[in-house]
Amino acid sequence: MGWPYKKLVRPILFAQNAERVHDFTLKMLGHASHNKFVCDFIRNFFAAPDLPVELFGLKFPNPVGLAAGLDKFAVAVPIWEKLGFGFCELGGVTWQPQPGNPRPRIFRAVADEAIVNRMGFNNFGAEAFAQKLVEWKNSNRWPKHPVGINLGKSKITPLEKAAEDYANSFRALRDLADFFVINVSSPNTPGLRQLQDKSALDEIFVALQQENSSRKPILVKVAPDLSFEALDEILELANARNISGIVATNTTISRPQTNDVCSQKIYSEAGGLSGKPLRARSTEIIRHIFKQTKGKLPIIGVGGIFNADDAWEKISAGASLIQIYTGMIYEGPGIAKEIVCGLRQRMDSKGIKNLSEIVGTV
Ligand SMILES: Cc1cc2nc3c(=O)[nH]c(=O)nc-3n(C[C@H](O)[C@H](O)[C@H](O)COP(=O)(O)O)c2cc1C
Repeated sequence: MGWPYKKLVRPILFAQNAERVHDFTLKMLGHASHNKFVCDFIRNFFAAPDLPVELFGLKFPNPVGLAAGLDKFAVAVPIWEKLGFGFCELGGVTWQPQPGNPRPRIFRAVADEAIVNRMGFNNFGAEAFAQKLVEWKNSNRWPKHPVGINLGKSKITPLEKAAEDYANSFRALRDLADFFVINVSSPNTPGLRQLQDKSALDEIFVALQQENSSRKPILVKVAPDLSFEALDEILELANARNISGIVATNTTISRPQTNDVCSQKIYSEAGGLSGKPLRARSTEIIRHIFKQTKGKLPIIGVGGIFNADDAWEKISAGASLIQIYTGMIYEGPGIAKEIVCGLRQRMDSKGIKNLSEIVGTV
């Protein structure tokens, strides 16, 4: 599937405005999600073989997940499983509905296989999101794989009230997903990343855990631009506040060197960079977290994963699960299956029975 997508479909999609293509694709996947025949057809093409992972009390059919930001409105919840993903992270969702930043706000740096985005948490708010999830649950189309929700802070909420804002969203959604990710690392909401500071983050952890009587796994998503010292403070807190894991990483505000004039123009846009140029830094962060926590705190690795080699790199650096966003835009809808098959092949050739045997080995 990779070759026909890249040679035939991608050139047509990439000739159009990036957000328009995204909206159209999600709309189509949303329609497909409602149609059993189409869902079965997609599953026949894209379903991934089993490569089970058990983590924070949840059973994942394979370690390849859909990253936050792709299905922000929960329009296609059933389809991610049919496309071979072992889990999905929906959202980001904020307590208040908000339109996000003005368009254009997604840009492709094609030569570098990267994206710059400054979406700014466009979403219809936690209560409407909850309603949408209830509709999916009632439709009997809810996927069998674990579903997570990414929580952001509403733009109009001042930083001092952030904990309350996150807690409101969590209360509205806590019974509707299997795990939650606190996003304090998006570069597109003014001041948000200051919430990665120790005292601000502690307040958020405490507020959420107070609401978390059913002990849902709560993870925190970190920026690749943090220093190791700042990261270590978060790890200490995570341990003290029963945080179930770290999602590493979000997009970066840094930009790679390039001689490509088109990429230079894209890199001058404000926003977070994802895709291939992010890969090495996010792996470095994962390796550091694994080392600091002696492998005791589960890591979901995300950033620049395009194929099984990239996935293997993240897992051997310390990630127990991985996620994809930009890789799917560049490689196409078969990416989850291709990665799972590639991981299984590597495991077979090395005589490895369980994926956990390679976590944090390099
Ligand atoms: C258009 C776009 C929107 C995103 N929205 C979110 C979001 O709402 N919440 C979040 O935590 N991460 C968001 N991300 C970050 C991704 O989940 C992921 O961490 C990042 O893109 C790195 O992975 P990748 O290189 O596979 O894309 C977004 C990324 C993109 C490209």
